[in-house]
Amino acid sequence: MTQSSKPDPRHALVTGGASGFGLAIAQSLLAQGAYVAIADIDAARLQEATRSLDSANVLPLKLDVTSVDSVRAAVESCKSRFGCLDTLVNSAGVIHIAPLAEISERDWDRVLDVDLKGVFLCCQAAAPFLCESGRGRIVNIGSDASKLGCGMIVSYCAAKFGVVGLTKALAAELATYQVTVNCVCPVGVSTTGMGQDVLSWKMRKVGAKLQDILAATTAGIPLQRNATTEDIVNAAMFLLAERSSFLTGVALDVDGGLLSTMPMPGAAK
Ligand SMILES: NC(=O)c1ccc[n+]([C@@H]2O[C@H](COP(=O)([O-])OP(=O)(O)OC[C@H]3O[C@@H](n4cnc5c(N)ncnc54)[C@H](O)[C@@H]3O)[C@@H](O)[C@H]2O)c1
Repeated sequence: MTQSSKPDPRHALVTGGASGFGLAIAQSLLAQGAYVAIADIDAARLQEATRSLDSANVLPLKLDVTSVDSVRAAVESCKSRFGCLDTLVNSAGVIHIAPLAEISERDWDRVLDVDLKGVFLCCQAAAPFLCESGRGRIVNIGSDASKLGCGMIVSYCAAKFGVVGLTKALAAELATYQVTVNCVCPVGVSTTGMGQDVLSWKMRKVGAKLQDILAATTAGIPLQRNATTEDIVNAAMFLLAERSSFLTGVALDVDGGLLSTMPMPGAAK
């Protein structure tokens, strides 16, 4: 802590930081005075995101989370630019939507490699520095598909269930170093890159209009509205906050009650 008892700024690596939740979390961290590496495979998006963040505290990094060399290089870049690394947000992700019979081995491997192996590689490479900091934080972005089986996204579900298991196992292993490891499990948000892809797929599949698809999604959420990026960022920032130092191994649903509630059986209108 500094003399004013304001928490020391965080030094963060955010994967998938050029878009969607990753970019929005990076923005919130920067607003708190953090130093933030936004790391992403998409160079064009990375350039645009860096321009939009417009901060001297941003370090843009080209990263492929499926490559151990690329991950190690990104972590080393953070260490040499920031002097330390105390925060890791794993938001990089891809989805593949198809029925079981049409999933190729390549499709399966790609989703598992990015969404699960990528989280493992980043956690493994960052862990020594997070442990050294004495205040390490890892937040992984899971999904409602981390907890419920969902058809047409079999590989994504398998990977995202794995992310929760990985989160809890790492929480156990890193606890003695005061590193907390948690997971945010969002329901669908249609405005991010992935959200737009899913929405387009649904519109093609059902042949319905955008408003009708969104209304149908809202109707399935107990709180009767769709999630926003801000909802997800709020949960991630809560888990990253100094005051959350006693929370670890949590997989927090951000889903308007979808996974935790149901109408009384036989009594729903
Ligand atoms: N949007 C949703 O509805 C939703 C719901 C639940 C969970 N999620 C999860 O949230 C996370 C962020 O997704 P988003 O919705 O912001 O989508 P997004 O497409 O806007 O962001 C994902 C980012 O990951 C990057 N990426 C993909 N492969 C990569 C790789 N190999 N190495 C590094 N970066 C890579 C992409 O370039 C992109 O910038 C993902 O893990 C996703 O599974 C999204």
